Amino acid sequence: MSDRITINYENKPCYDIVFGYDFNELGSEIEGLGFKDRKIAIVTDSNVKPLYADSVAEALKSVSDKVFIYDIPAGEANKNLSQIEKIYKFLIENHFDRHDLLVALGGGVVGDMTGFTAATYLRGIAYVQIPTTLLSQTDSSIGGKTGVDLEGYKNMVGAFYMPRLVYMNISTLSSLDGRQFASGFAEVMKHGLIKDANLYTWLLENMYEINDKEPETLMEMVMNSCKIKKAVVEKDPTEKGDRALLNFGHTLGHAIEKHKNFELFHGECVALGCVAAAFISWKKEFISMEEYYEIRDMFVPFNLPISVEDIDADEVIKLAKSDKKADSDRIRFILLKGIGKAFISTDVTEADMKSALDEIIYIESND
Ligand SMILES: NC(=O)c1ccc[n+]([C@@H]2O[C@H](COP(=O)([O-])OP(=O)(O)OC[C@H]3O[C@@H](n4cnc5c(N)ncnc54)[C@H](O)[C@@H]3O)[C@@H](O)[C@H]2O)c1
Repeated sequence: MSDRITINYENKPCYDIVFGYDFNELGSEIEGLGFKDRKIAIVTDSNVKPLYADSVAEALKSVSDKVFIYDIPAGEANKNLSQIEKIYKFLIENHFDRHDLLVALGGGVVGDMTGFTAATYLRGIAYVQIPTTLLSQTDSSIGGKTGVDLEGYKNMVGAFYMPRLVYMNISTLSSLDGRQFASGFAEVMKHGLIKDANLYTWLLENMYEINDKEPETLMEMVMNSCKIKKAVVEKDPTEKGDRALLNFGHTLGHAIEKHKNFELFHGECVALGCVAAAFISWKKEFISMEEYYEIRDMFVPFNLPISVEDIDADEVIKLAKSDKKADSDRIRFILLKGIGKAFISTDVTEADMKSALDEIIYIESND
């Protein structure tokens, strides 16, 4: 029996997250959802396909003999409507109907695109998430946010559409390169910082095991992180209130990501954004100086940046203000009242952001 967590939507069980170290339970899970003998399209990307698509297809053999594999070229640059159109065409040519199933096998890009295809193809077809990056296992595969980018605007087109199952095979993390792993870890750390001081402490205590990708430690970390994401998305499924806490580190992080032309990874920018937001929390006297420095330095052993070169603070602030999450002219900034205690502030000024950015730009000379 695998471990599982049920995600509720509008106070009713909606889908399960199943945790394992292989794909052995996948067939029976999908059969249990009623897809016996239905067509199944595994949507993956060009990097993940050679690693795991055959194993997933093999695991689905017992459910159906009509299993297809479709791959998207890997990378955020392909998270767009023209690639979605190609997936639609593939489904039409293979006569997929509303009772069939899509399976997203890959990171957040594949998950968001497959979910969006599922939300819109024939006005809605079922889909299952099999996340294979740390970011997608702990964050993007849960909560039903799907979408694509449009002309450089991230996640501008999308839908809330819940998967029927999230199947985590922790072993897939073993093939992830170090920088991708660290980038996903930034979101785990964020979960601890916003909601769970115990997770935060546990991460510190298990630093070596995490960096060595020790399977049982990764399992515990992914499960605990999923529980936090569950609590947040169940309370606020369509991001009207509490779910905004997940944007901790993202207001400035996202703007830095754009300003640096996506040359830094998302999680690396989130780490920088978390440091900046913790700095503002300290300056506004919500946390102590000691807490700020502890939070800042915690990213270092996990190979995440706490300072950045060559950014123009005014440009970053402009980008942060133009982000779609900015509420008219007041930015809803997420700050900390302590480790594990995030809240929404609408009192963060441009001057606050400027001093936080100066801190992370010139951090070495400040020490
Ligand atoms: N829907 C949400 O709630 C939500 C939340 C956070 C982020 N996101 C989205 O997630 C995306 C980022 O996700 P990501 O970081 O997983 O990026 P990604 O999907 O681009 O994956 C990163 C890279 O790792 C490769 N890869 C994936 N799994 C692998 C494995 N097991 N072994 C080796 N290589 C592997 C991929 O091919 C890709 O090159 C962004 O588009 C972001 O907007 C969505």
